[in-house]
Amino acid sequence: MALADFIADLNALSAEADASFASAADAAALEAARVEYLGAKAGRLKAVQQGLGKVDKADKPAAGKRFNEVKQAIEAAFAAAQERQSRGAVVAEREAFDVTLPGRPVRLGRLHPVTQTIAEMKDIMGRLGFTAVEGPEIEDDWHNFEALNIPRSHPARDPLDNFYLATAQLTPGESPGAKSLGGKPLLLRSQTSTVQIRVMESTPPPVRIISLGRVYRPDTADATHYPMFHQIEGLLIDRGVTMADLKSVLRLFCQSYFGSVEAGGQDVHVRFRPSFFPFTEPSVEVDMSWTNAAGEHGWLEMGGAGMVDPNVLRAVGYDPEEVTGFAFGLGVERICMRQHGITDIRALYENDVRFLEQF
Ligand code: PHE
Repeated sequence: MALADFIADLNALSAEADASFASAADAAALEAARVEYLGAKAGRLKAVQQGLGKVDKADKPAAGKRFNEVKQAIEAAFAAAQERQSRGAVVAEREAFDVTLPGRPVRLGRLHPVTQTIAEMKDIMGRLGFTAVEGPEIEDDWHNFEALNIPRSHPARDPLDNFYLATAQLTPGESPGAKSLGGKPLLLRSQTSTVQIRVMESTPPPVRIISLGRVYRPDTADATHYPMFHQIEGLLIDRGVTMADLKSVLRLFCQSYFGSVEAGGQDVHVRFRPSFFPFTEPSVEVDMSWTNAAGEHGWLEMGGAGMVDPNVLRAVGYDPEEVTGFAFGLGVERICMRQHGITDIRALYENDVRFLEQF
């Protein structure tokens, strides 16, 4: 190969490389150009270098010298282009900042509809003199069953109807063996009535509390069931409490919750149907009347209630001859769904922001 041809190739390459680096629009394009010309394996400079071997022996030193000069020139052109680009990026950013533009709004979250319902319920019951208390979601069988007059043989204790936990807590002094030998079973509470027991065990009467929280049952999820849901539990213990008090409180509660919301201040009624719960006697199912936009009248099932069973009062050390009381347990989701016209409970727990931000 003649020296003149080799040098012509080098010069052409150098000019092309300069043009490519200069016209690279962004960092990615510049990097692609670098690989094309300076790439260690398949770069075009590398290819020209291969021609060095074919230059006549006498011309080799001159060819090698020229090759090194061009290599350095291409490398310098690349470095310059890189430098120019990073400076340009900063300038572009500075120019793009327009102080007269309105600020970008911060995306605000909001309370979950169930949380809103709970807050509203606490508010209403607070005005009726009920203090909100909390209880643990992991319970022992004394608080979930035994003290609530649900004996060991009762079907409500069925492992298929409850989330029992595999491990049992040891009380101080209890041997680890007791755990496997029928030590206290623990479970995710299946009802908030557990809190009635905890409050009465730790406070003398009178008692006037509500408790709102999660309960767990192994139900298959469908439009009206979910393995976790919320209840509002109410408990009032005093001298001479009657079922009339229970009905008045529930009616005031429903009236306050729905009366203004959807019935336009209309009367809301509460209906009792005879029922059975081990921890209340007599026991009732509570329905609430409602009127929809079309003026149609219906009844919404809200939950259970009744007069606290004397066995429960005795279990917590109260004297059933002295005090009586009522208790109720209502489904929070049901009330929340009714209020907003939500027809599938699963929508509440899918965490789809498009759904949740409507409330
Ligand atoms: N704990 C009952 C349930 O979960 C409801 C209830 C509470 C009934 C208080 C009576 C009194 O079904």
